[in-house]
Amino acid sequence: MERTERVMLWIGGTVMAVFFVAVVVLAAGFGIDVPGCITEVKPFERDTLFQRADGRYELHVVARMWAYQMPPVELPVGSEVDIYLSSGDVLHGFHIDRTNVNLMAIPGTVAYARVRFREAGDYPIICHEYCGIGHQQMVGVIRVVQ
Ligand code: CUA
Repeated sequence: MERTERVMLWIGGTVMAVFFVAVVVLAAGFGIDVPGCITEVKPFERDTLFQRADGRYELHVVARMWAYQMPPVELPVGSEVDIYLSSGDVLHGFHIDRTNVNLMAIPGTVAYARVRFREAGDYPIICHEYCGIGHQQMVGVIRVVQ
């Protein structure tokens, strides 16, 4: 093996190791999970907001062309919310601005994310998967108050 070849392999291996460590450290540091579907919850047709305990909520959202069916959500600062997302028709996206929540609403499945709202304000929700002619109007909001 040529010397240049060995040097390039070492550089390549080192860069890959650095990226791998960076991904692991960032995922652990910021609590980022690999997104996925959950199988123990059946797809639901109705939106609901439950209060599970003091500061703990559960929100069921149904995405449909071209709106999120969800109750008006106003939560106190510091609330932790389990979000379950389903689709009533086609593929939709669900990103809550200023949070790590970034889900896909896939028909026939339920997506899940947990988020804590540490600051007061309006948290806009946008659909980031093209879902038809009204896609750009598909927005929602979660209001967090003091
Ligand atoms: Cu729903 Cu784009």
